[in-house]
Amino acid sequence: MTEKKTFHITTFGCQMNEHDSEIMAGLLLKKGYAQAASREDADIVIFNTCSIRENADKRFFGTLGQLKRRKMREGDAFTVCVCGCMMQQQHIVDKLKAKYPWVDVVYGTHNLYRLPELLDKLYQEKKKQLEVWPEAAGIVEDLPAQRLYAHKSFVNIMYGCNNFCSYCIVPYTRGRERSRSPEDIVREVRALVRDGVREITLLGQNVNSYRAPGAETDFTDLIYMLAEIEGLLRIRFMTSHPKDLSDKLIEAFSRCDKLCKHFHLPVQAGSDKVLRDMNRRYTQSSYLRLVDKLRAACPDISLSTDIIVGFPGETEEDFAATLALAERVGYDSAFTFLYSIRPGTPAAARTDQVPEEVKHERFNRLVDVINKSAAAKNAAYVGRTVAVLTDGKSRSSDCAYEGRTDSFKLVNFTAPADLAACSPVGRIVRVKITDANTFSLKGEMVE
Ligand code: SAH
Ligand code: SF4
Ligand code: F3S
Repeated sequence: MTEKKTFHITTFGCQMNEHDSEIMAGLLLKKGYAQAASREDADIVIFNTCSIRENADKRFFGTLGQLKRRKMREGDAFTVCVCGCMMQQQHIVDKLKAKYPWVDVVYGTHNLYRLPELLDKLYQEKKKQLEVWPEAAGIVEDLPAQRLYAHKSFVNIMYGCNNFCSYCIVPYTRGRERSRSPEDIVREVRALVRDGVREITLLGQNVNSYRAPGAETDFTDLIYMLAEIEGLLRIRFMTSHPKDLSDKLIEAFSRCDKLCKHFHLPVQAGSDKVLRDMNRRYTQSSYLRLVDKLRAACPDISLSTDIIVGFPGETEEDFAATLALAERVGYDSAFTFLYSIRPGTPAAARTDQVPEEVKHERFNRLVDVINKSAAAKNAAYVGRTVAVLTDGKSRSSDCAYEGRTDSFKLVNFTAPADLAACSPVGRIVRVKITDANTFSLKGEMVE
C-alpha cells in the first residue's frame, strides 16, 4: 500500500459488539490500515449493528442513508461495510440489497474476523462482498484487539445464548452457546496483564452457564483461576441469568477479593405470569431469594438490573408487581426498556400488544422508583473513602479525573497538585466522597 487507507467503526449495541469492534480494529491495524479520527475522514466506514430493539435498527438505517451521497460522489475510493447482529437476519439483508445496493461489504457476527479478507477480495475482484454465516464455525483464538483503555479490557468467555426469552432476538443473531477453554482464557488474561491491564470484564450473554468444553470447570472455577493471576486487580462479568445463578458463585463474593462487589442481575419483570410468558424460568420469589443471598454473602454489594415495560399482555396489576419488586430490591441502577417487537420472536406474534402510551406512562413511573433508590444508594457513600480505578480525564467540567469503585459507581474527583503529579490514571487510588447524585459520585483524592 503506498498510502495507508484509513477506517472508522461505528458500533451500536452491547459490550459484545463493542468488543467485536475492538477486534476488527485490531485486525485492520495489523493488516496495515490506519485509524481515522472520524467517519468523514475515513476511506472505509464500518457499521457494527445491533438488533435488540426497533430503534437500534432505525438508527442504523438512518446513519447509513446519510452516506449515500458521498458514495455516489466518490465511488470505489470510498468503502462502506456493514456487519453485526442485524446482518444475521435475512429480512435485513434483503432490505439492504433492495434499498442500499451501494453498500460494498456485508458480513455477520460469526465471521467478523474475515473482514480483512473480504476487503482484499473487494479491491481485487472489484465486486461487492456478501458473506453471512448462519452458524459459527468453532471459536477462533488469538485475534488481536485494539483496547479503548490501557488498564482495562473485555474478555469473551462464551458466545451465543440458548435461553430463547420470548421477546429477544439474540439467540437468532448470536447462535447457540459455546464456551472458550479455560486455558485459552487464562492465557489471554495473562498477556493482557503483562500489557498493563488491571481490570477485566468477562463477557457472555449468560456467563453463569459457562462450562469448559469437555471438562467440569464452571464459571466460578474460572473466576478463581483468574484471581490467581498476579497483577490482575479486579474481575467483573456481564451478564448473568437468574435461573443459572449458583450458590457457589454467590459464595465467591465473600471469598474472592478481586471479584468486584457489583452484580448485574436482569429481572425483566416482577409478575410471575409475565415472567412465564417471557420464558425466563424463575419467579419473583426465587429472584428475591437470590438477592437476599447475595446481600447476606456481601452486605455492600451493588445491584443493577434490566427491566422491560409493556411486554404483551402486561396488565396494570402485572406492572404493579414490577414496581413492588424494584422497590423491595432497591437497585443501585437499572436499564429500563420499552418492549419492542422483534420480528421472528414468539412474543412478536402475540395479539395482545400493550398500547404505546400505556407503555410510556408505566415506563416513567418505573424510572421514578429506580432513580429514587439509585440516589439513596449513592447518598450513602458521602463521607466514605473508597478505592477508585482511575479511567482518565473527567468528562465533568469541575473535576480532573473519573473512575469506578469496586461497586461500579462512577466517581468524578479532584486531586491536590502533589498527588496529581504522579498521574492516577490506570491506578487504584483512595477518594473521599463529598457529594452524590442519581448517576454518579463526586470526591477528592486523598492518597
Ligand atoms: N443476555 C443478557 C442481555 C441481553 S440484551 C441478559 O439476558 O441479561 C439486554 C437487555 O435488552 C435485556 O436484558 C432486555 O432487558 C432488553 N431487551 C431484549 N429484547 C428486548 C425487546 N424486544 N424489547 C425491549 N427490551 C429488550
Ligand atoms: Fe436474550 Fe434471554 Fe438470551 Fe439474554 S438470556 S440474550 S434476554 S434470550
Ligand atoms: Fe444488540 Fe447483538 Fe448485543 S442484538 S445487544 S449487539 S448481542
